[in-house]
Amino acid sequence: MSRKVKNTEDMEISFIAPPEGNEDVIPDQKEHFQLPTRFGAVPVDEAPLGWEIETRRREVKVTKFQHAYPTIRLPLQEVKRVEFGHGEAFLAENEKDNKLKALFPTGANRLFFGDNLHIMRQLPSESIDLIYIDPPFFSGRNYNVIFGDKNEVRSFSDIWEGGMPGYLVWLNARLWEMKRLLKPTGSIYVHLDWHAVHYVKVEMDKIFGADNFRNEIIWHYSGWNKQLNDHVERRHDSLLFYAKGKGNYFTYPKRPWESKEEYVKKRKQKVHVDEQGREYVLSDAGGGQRVRRFIEEAMAYGSPLDDVWDIDKINNSDRLERIGYPTQKPEVLLEGILKMSSNEGNVIDDFFCGGGTTPAVAQRLNRRWIACDQSRIAVAITADRIAKIMQQKDDLFLPVPDFTVEHWGIYEAPKLEQYSIEQFREFVVKAFGGRPESASDAIHGMRYGVPLYVGEPSRKSRICRDDVARFAKAVYEERRANHGVMLGWNFGPDARKAAEILAARENRRIDFVRLNLIRLEDEAFREHVVTKNRDYAPLLSFIQPPEVRIAVRRVSPLTYEFDVSESVSLNKDGLIANVQWDFSHKAGRFNSTQGYTFLRDKKTGRPLLAVQYAFPKAGAHTIACSVQDDQGGERTVVQPIEVT
Ligand SMILES: C[S@@+](CC[C@H](N)C(=O)[O-])C[C@H]1O[C@@H](n2cnc3c(N)ncnc32)[C@H](O)[C@@H]1O
Repeated sequence: MSRKVKNTEDMEISFIAPPEGNEDVIPDQKEHFQLPTRFGAVPVDEAPLGWEIETRRREVKVTKFQHAYPTIRLPLQEVKRVEFGHGEAFLAENEKDNKLKALFPTGANRLFFGDNLHIMRQLPSESIDLIYIDPPFFSGRNYNVIFGDKNEVRSFSDIWEGGMPGYLVWLNARLWEMKRLLKPTGSIYVHLDWHAVHYVKVEMDKIFGADNFRNEIIWHYSGWNKQLNDHVERRHDSLLFYAKGKGNYFTYPKRPWESKEEYVKKRKQKVHVDEQGREYVLSDAGGGQRVRRFIEEAMAYGSPLDDVWDIDKINNSDRLERIGYPTQKPEVLLEGILKMSSNEGNVIDDFFCGGGTTPAVAQRLNRRWIACDQSRIAVAITADRIAKIMQQKDDLFLPVPDFTVEHWGIYEAPKLEQYSIEQFREFVVKAFGGRPESASDAIHGMRYGVPLYVGEPSRKSRICRDDVARFAKAVYEERRANHGVMLGWNFGPDARKAAEILAARENRRIDFVRLNLIRLEDEAFREHVVTKNRDYAPLLSFIQPPEVRIAVRRVSPLTYEFDVSESVSLNKDGLIANVQWDFSHKAGRFNSTQGYTFLRDKKTGRPLLAVQYAFPKAGAHTIACSVQDDQGGERTVVQPIEVT
């Protein structure tokens, strides 16, 4: 499925590229936007906000959101793989379906850490059956910062900067990619509340076509209504349900009747009893015909739902489902959506996954899933939640795909050091916006026609004078070029000297070679990304996992206090942002203990760094602690403890 894309500067990048075609057009809805002529020339904008049309040299070019969010392509870094033992089966599945293979190249479900727009732009078109998103509601800056890590906080500043239009351009750019990703039979649900839903409806009519609007599902949640001064309590959210086109997959949802009395009350009809003692009501069959509807059958059939769903929010005392962050949605709500608009084996996506409610329900209902969040804490909570479901799942005979955690844009340096030299070179060349090459020993890629050299994966390595000489020779002899770029964690002073000598030959010898020596952590390495848009400033950066120090103190028999306040983030201005505890750790699978996933100080909202736990019995135990900092770093440490 992946295709080579040639860009004007003769550089090739091998990423998954969407096929050119009808993705570039917005639905033609002349009638829908028709204005009575008598109203004269009132401008009606059929294009979604942020959709740009550029006229260059009399050529009209659609640049769809490229002005607001220019495309950048960066590699993905797999930092974790959670295995359930059936990986081979899903790799075999891939061989039967190219789209599946392009979407799940390693056969595993995928959990992405990064900004969803850029990640979506690297996924294949028409490959997803159902998308559910629960984006920030435009309900004010502070309300929407949930997990508190830098990435999350930073992203909200740009959304709110422009007011509602800025929010709509931000969301439209993402909705546009979601439309491209949906299969022709696909559906999308956008979860919002009164703050933005009406504005987004207008934009979605433009992007998906008003004819493809299906429902505004009202999620009504009860609560204790306070008597407010100037309006009544707002106790519902709205889910805008659109199809990609005609023939979207749909199963009419029904709920079980609570009782026969509820059914009869709803029918508002007299109950009759037939000669066999079966109860029935008479229902209209049209044409004045009336038919017997037997109550038992009707009960079994269930009560067809409408577009108002009464589902309570997760109760504070619900220790099983409640994780503890403000915007967590009830699993039963997602269950209704997945059962209505998807089938077993279908691909479900949530690009604002938060604590992972959608992938958790998809996992339980045997759907394939892709999830994404720009908060590393949200990703950690989601990964833990999926692993927990598998821990509780009893029918393990049903093959279940592994899942991977993949970083986009912010990379774990220690994990890169574990790459093979080939993997590392491919990663660095792609991150630098080049095309990897493996034909030559000394030339590892090209960018805009300039040869590239990449050093060793280890951060302790230094590119030295001999590397410089070897590369310069290859640049000149193999490519007849006088310019090259060397990329590495560090350069030895002799390498810099050697490069100066080579460059000094210019105007004296033809075999002069000017070499740029760029460290991976230099601004020059990420210039091609951060100069494209100020919001891209944090991208192409390398982070370290935090240093975790656990202090253990016996408080009373079987009860211990665990304190990680001595732990530190190893990233610049980094802070410890979340701590998860697993007090019955099994090798290879972190599974936070119920209630120890997202602990916050009630007053400050800051993460709790010290906790107490009462072990069920004395003896040898193994505990694990997973710590995330607010820059995207995560480290899990495992420790034995003798409990008395
Ligand atoms: C309202 S929460 C989703 C909660 C989720 N439905 C649940 O039940 O747990 C919205 C999430 O979107 C994430 N987010 C916001 N902007 C994002 C972006 N551009 N890319 C990826 N995630 C983003 C936030 O970090 C937050 O976790």
